[in-house]
Amino acid sequence: MGPQKNSKFIQISLVLCFAVAVSIVQCKVLHDCSSNGDCGDGLYCFSCPQGFSGKRCVRSTITDQFTLVNNSLPFNKYAFLTTHNSFAIDGEPPRTGVPRVTVTNQEDNVTQQLKNGARALMLDTYDFKGDVWLCHSFGGQCYDYTAFEPAIETLREIATFLAENPSEIVTIILEDYVQAPKGLTKVFTNAGLMKYWFPVTSMPQNGQDWPLVSDMVAKNQRLLVFTSMKSKQKSEGIAYQWNYMVENQYGDGGMKAGSCPNREESSPLDDKSKSLVLVNYFRSVPMKQLTCEDNSANLINMLHTCYGAAGNRWANFVAVNYYKRSEGGGSFQAVDTLNGKLLCGRDDVHACVPGSTSGACTP
Ligand SMILES: *[C@@H]1O[C@H](CO)[C@@H](O)[C@H](O)[C@H]1NC(C)=O
Ligand SMILES: *[C@@H]1O[C@H](CO)[C@@H](O)[C@H](O)[C@H]1NC(C)=O
Repeated sequence: MGPQKNSKFIQISLVLCFAVAVSIVQCKVLHDCSSNGDCGDGLYCFSCPQGFSGKRCVRSTITDQFTLVNNSLPFNKYAFLTTHNSFAIDGEPPRTGVPRVTVTNQEDNVTQQLKNGARALMLDTYDFKGDVWLCHSFGGQCYDYTAFEPAIETLREIATFLAENPSEIVTIILEDYVQAPKGLTKVFTNAGLMKYWFPVTSMPQNGQDWPLVSDMVAKNQRLLVFTSMKSKQKSEGIAYQWNYMVENQYGDGGMKAGSCPNREESSPLDDKSKSLVLVNYFRSVPMKQLTCEDNSANLINMLHTCYGAAGNRWANFVAVNYYKRSEGGGSFQAVDTLNGKLLCGRDDVHACVPGSTSGACTP
């Protein structure tokens, strides 16, 4: 009996140790750190003086709601992290021979944004140098000193991600200044993205539910593209964004606590003939040092405000600057909250799945 009892004891101890080890790894949000290695999976070591002293572990990745819950609901029953001006990235080398004189909105490249869980990208497309470029500009004109890169390069990163992640869906929201006939069609074709194209004819026109994500995946229709140019829906089959989506004011006008007005081009948020809701929450002039605070409690408060403004609908897309800056959970927690609300009426998507505990460890 002695040895048996002993081995039982060892077994139980091992199980307990394992449980403790797992919970330590999962609960490191806001622990002190000196480098990313101190933080564990899905976190990185960051400093946000407004939120906490010193350097702490904060989230760097989303919870994949399709993996954690399932993908059998309509597309509009899920929420997605959206990077504003995804292409305007710190440290992108100038491509035109002159230094760039413009602001950035993100800190890592589109491949990393997608790997960390961004599923919608806001891109500004311009005619430039006989091609389509991503550019941060004014007056609908791209200049050498405002240009980022040829659109095809970013679109190829998206194509690679879609090929490597056959169950994921990516949405592209274009602020579109391209006048060249079929200019966008050409660049999407050359980037190898047409095979993923979700047809505009399958998009709900009158507030119905979208197709099921599982069906979109089965049909490989995993790329949604919206343009701000109305004529392109007819001429190129690219969905005119505000036929399908309502959207609040972007920039400073969208950051006033307690109000969630629509942007000019969008119907009022409570227009339920559009099945998708997009919430912008970023400053007109991006300010890196302030973004960790913006992306935290204030963002979640705005999601509640916009829920009311949208006729009791939770946002499907949340667009932010510097998406990894936060006081702990940030834009990732905001999207986990939305998915919790959308999928099971709880405050965190982890609460939708019995035994899923990592949500309890995020602030
Ligand atoms: C994106 O950034 C990562 C990390 O710096 C780098 O390894 C990768 O090559 C970059 N990818 C592209 C397409 O720029
Ligand atoms: C998928 O998850 C939703 C939300 O929790 C649930 O209502 C639905 O029954 C699930 N579907 C399947 C096929 O498991």
